Amino acid sequence: MPLLQFDAMTDSPLPIAILISGSGSNLQALIDASLRGELDCDITVVISDRHGIHGLDRAKAAGISTAVVAWSDHDSRSAFTEAICRTADDHGAKAMVLAGFMRILAPVAIDRFPNAIINVHPALLPAFPGAHAVDLALAYGATLTGVTVHFVDEQVDHGPIIAQESLPVFVDDDADSLHARIQKVEHRLLPEVVAAFGRGDLVVEGRHVRWRQNPLKDTDS
Ligand code: GRF
Repeated sequence: MPLLQFDAMTDSPLPIAILISGSGSNLQALIDASLRGELDCDITVVISDRHGIHGLDRAKAAGISTAVVAWSDHDSRSAFTEAICRTADDHGAKAMVLAGFMRILAPVAIDRFPNAIINVHPALLPAFPGAHAVDLALAYGATLTGVTVHFVDEQVDHGPIIAQESLPVFVDDDADSLHARIQKVEHRLLPEVVAAFGRGDLVVEGRHVRWRQNPLKDTDS
């Protein structure tokens, strides 16, 4: 039975929380899309797992509420995850976007936000899951890598794939040059996916995500 994540009629624009751990360039891409009126979501809060990161400054500069749920303040992954979900809930968020969020959420997050947590990963999953995807692709000698945007499930970098885009690995690439090209793709693909989600255009059927209308593919199958 296809599961639609929310009611696109009553939740328009869809309130979302964005989770970050670092520089927040993907967050900035989402903010910029929102300012252009292209996100079809309302960013109600940006949640970080640490203080003092540049991503928090980007959120504040855009006038978006911020919250820090520090990993070190919690004695278990479940307690940390509960605090994240509570913070998102408190800001009315109906979905969460992991935009460079480097913590693994406990399964309770999936119970609270079923098929409503989106992650961006800097490789073509299922290749190179985990925190070192760019280094792993280089070390493996891959000649192609890319970006995956997917729903989050109980396993790491594993949930239903929403969109992927490949790019070549050049012989003289190092981690910085390759990651920079990957991020250019992320900054375009992630906002497109979040916008489609916000419009209610994504339907999950098992591991498969059907786009009602897919501007990325020019087909709605
Ligand atoms: C991104 O490349 C993302 O795929 C990875 O971490 C990076 C975060 O970058 N998980 P930023 O904080 O969005 O600049």
